Amino acid sequence: MKIIKTISEITQFLQQVRQQSIGFVPTMGALHAGHLSLIQMSKTKTDITICSIFINPIQFNKKEDLDNYPRTLDADIQKLEKENCDVLFLPNVSEMYPTNKLNTYNFGAIATVMEGAFRPGHFDGVANVIQRFFEIIKPTYAFFGEKDFQQLAVVKELTKQLNLSVKIVGCPIYREPGGLAMSSRNERLSPIERTQASIIYRTLQKIKNEYSTYTTQQAKENFNSAMRQAGFVPEYIEFADVNTLQPIENWNETSNCFAFVAVNVGNVRLIDNLSIF
Ligand code: PAF
Repeated sequence: MKIIKTISEITQFLQQVRQQSIGFVPTMGALHAGHLSLIQMSKTKTDITICSIFINPIQFNKKEDLDNYPRTLDADIQKLEKENCDVLFLPNVSEMYPTNKLNTYNFGAIATVMEGAFRPGHFDGVANVIQRFFEIIKPTYAFFGEKDFQQLAVVKELTKQLNLSVKIVGCPIYREPGGLAMSSRNERLSPIERTQASIIYRTLQKIKNEYSTYTTQQAKENFNSAMRQAGFVPEYIEFADVNTLQPIENWNETSNCFAFVAVNVGNVRLIDNLSIF
C-alpha cells in the first residue's frame, strides 16, 4: 500500500491511474470492521481504492470531542494492508486547509434536524472536507457507512449541488456481536460500557417489533427511560421519513420510517439508526 501525505504527490499518482476507476473511502481512522467493509466494497466495484485518514477539526463542535477522538494509526495501516487497500492518503491540516476560507452550504431541511440541530456547524465541516477530498481525488465512487445516515444524505445533496459525477454508495451498518453499531468512538468505552451499550440496539429492535402498539411519543418515552435505566443520557430519538429525514408525529405520516438516536454513554456520544417499517 502506498502512503501519500501531500496533495501534489497524490495528484501525480492519480495522473498515472486516471484511466482506471477510483474508489474513495474517507475516514477519520480508528478503523473497525465497518470501515473495512467499505474498503472491501470499493475493491469489488473499482480498480484503485484510496482510503483517507484525516481527523477533520472543523466538523467537531466540541474541543474535548476532537481532543479525545481515538488515534490508532499503526493498527489502521496494518488493517488497510490486510485488505489490500491501494493507497492511504494521510494529509495534515495545513495540506487540507491552506487558507482560512471555508465554504458555507444550504442543504435545506435534511441538515437542520437531529445531528444538524444538536451539533451546530457539524455538517458544514463535513461538507468542506468532503468537497476538498472530491476536488483532489475526483473519485468515480465514494463509500460511506449508513450509521451516519444523515451525513450520507448530506454528502449526496452536496454532490448534487456541486454537480459532481462521483457516485455515492451507502453501506450497511456493521454491528458488534451484542448489536452495538460499530463506531470509532466505541474505542473510548470501558469494556463494561461497551457491553451495556448494546441496549441501544436492543431497545430500537423492541420498538421495531412493537411500534404499532404505541404512539410515537410513547415509543420515544420508552426508549428514553430504557437509556436512563442503563445509566445513559439520551440526547434525542426521532422517527423520521427515510427520504426527507423530517421527524414524524404519527406513524401514518410516512410509509418508510427510520428511528434515529443519539445517546451519551459516560462521556462518549453514540448514534444509531434502524428501519422501523
Ligand atoms: O464519517 C466520518 O468518519 C467523517 O465524518 C468523514 C466522512 C470521514 C469526514 O471527515
